[in-house]
Amino acid sequence: MLEHKLRTVIRDIPDFPTPGVVFKDITPVLKDASLCLEIVDDLVEKLEGIEIDVIAGVESRGFLFGLMLATRLGIPFVPIRKQGRLPYKTISESYKLEYGQATIEVHEDAIETGAKVLVHDDLLATGGTVVASAKLIEKLGGVVVGFSFIISLDFLKGEGRLTRFSDNIISLVR
Ligand code: PRP
Ligand code: ADE
Repeated sequence: MLEHKLRTVIRDIPDFPTPGVVFKDITPVLKDASLCLEIVDDLVEKLEGIEIDVIAGVESRGFLFGLMLATRLGIPFVPIRKQGRLPYKTISESYKLEYGQATIEVHEDAIETGAKVLVHDDLLATGGTVVASAKLIEKLGGVVVGFSFIISLDFLKGEGRLTRFSDNIISLVR
């Protein structure tokens, strides 16, 4: 079963990047090409029935499966990046992380008015990153139709912050 496999392959790194945080390291997953394809297939299956025009993935780990998912669905991928990295005109949002503070940006022409956008990231912790992403999408006139993650850290209660945007919240491992 995929969930069981992911639990064994994802590596826990204690006290990274700061003391007290147990970091979920997905790099061993990325070394297994068939496991990566299985992840994308499972995401596609779980997203069935949701109309999606665009996948927005959050830098950097949200790019990994976000682009694979968009390619598999045959729809555009939009990168949401950390401050100062996108070359064209941007809009931005600041937010708090489990271990710090950050600002993310998106190109102002990245999403068309009314486009149905799925926000993808590798991991949901406090939800700060994807809430800021959803705000950026709404500012551009997009409609957030769901969120997908490989991992959700349920004890940080991030999911509760997402339901104001959409109830479609998919996670492969909790
Ligand atoms: C990590 C992770 C998510 C975010 C989750 O990214 O990839 O984007 O934190 O935390 P939150 O739910 O509390 O917002 P990070 O900012 O460490 O960047 P990276 O993907 O570039 O490593
Ligand atoms: N992003 C926020 N918290 C994290 C964690 N515990 N492991 C990996 N990425 C994270």
